[in-house]
Order: sequence, then structure tokens, then C-alpha cells
Amino acid sequence: MKKFIFCIVTIVLSLQFYSAPYEDEVRKRLGLLKNKPVVAMTPSNSEDMASTARNGETVYNVGCAACHTAGLAGAPMFANVSQWQGRVEKGLETLVNNSYNGYNAMPAKGLCQDCTREEIQNSVQYMLDALTVN
Ligand code: HEC
Repeated sequence: MKKFIFCIVTIVLSLQFYSAPYEDEVRKRLGLLKNKPVVAMTPSNSEDMASTARNGETVYNVGCAACHTAGLAGAPMFANVSQWQGRVEKGLETLVNNSYNGYNAMPAKGLCQDCTREEIQNSVQYMLDALTVN
């Protein structure tokens, strides 16, 4: 009886040892397949995405210039200090919020529907910078 149990134990153990590398291989392959979409959401990757945010000038040209260059529909004109005066006092945070969420005739995100909040902030900052340069 003891021999029989020993035999069973030996078989079970050796099966485990035998199957371990195989299971590792399967996990590795499944892991490789599974990891691909997961990798796109890791923090290091989203940092990459943040670093590829379009700069203020690019966003302005794509999404804001259409109205803000000529002052369409009452939009405060680019680099026009007197038109921006009362607005600048609201502070960057409020101006970015209003640009991102929409404000009266100003549509949310302007004409840049795929813009992130960071990109909208970059373009607001770009417009504010233009006021101090001139
Ligand atoms: C379709 C025209 C249009 C586009 C495109 C547009 N704006 Fe505007 N924007 C306006 C108008 C009109 C106002 C004035 C709204 C008001 O004060 O009633 C305005 C106001 C603003 C203000 C001042 C908001 C405040 O609180 O006083 C900011 C900042 C601004 N726009 C940023 C942007 C940015 C950044 C973009 C591009 C991403 C953009 N706008 C694109 C029309 C536009």
C-alpha cells in the first residue's frame, strides 16, 4: 500500500514538473496576446500620449483661428489686448474651462473636437501669450 501511494505521489509530482514548462509557455503566449491592448493603457504609455499633445499654435490654427483671427460672432480677436482685457482677469483656469465646455457663442473645444483638455489649455495659453508679446 505504501508503495502504491509513493508511486502515485511520484507520478503526480513528475507530471507537475513535466507540465510546468509547458504551462509557462502557454501563459507566455497568452500573456503576449493579452498584453498588447493592455500595454496601451499603462501609465508610461499615457505619459507618451501626454507628451505628444499638440502645442498651442497648432491647436489655435486648427481649432480657434477661424473665429478668433477675425473676431467672428463676437469672438475676442487674437492679440487684441482691449478685447481680451476683461477675460484675462477671469484667470487661465476659467478661460480653459469655458473653452473646453463652451461659452455662449463659443462652441466647446472650438473646432478641435478631438482636442484634449491639455491641448485646449495650450491654445488658450498661446492666445494669452500673444497679448503680452504685442
Ligand atoms: C465658432 C467660433 C469660435 C471658435 C472656433 C473658437 N471660439 Fe473661442 N470664442 C468664440 C466667441 C464667439 C467667444 C465670445 C463668447 C462670449 O463672450 O460670449 C469666444 C470666447 C473665447 C474665450 C473667452 C472665454 C471667456 O470666458 O471670456 C476663450 C478663452 C476662447 N474663446 C478660446 C478659444 C479656443 C482656445 C479655441 C480653439 C480651441 C476657440 N476659442 C475657438 C468663438 C469661437
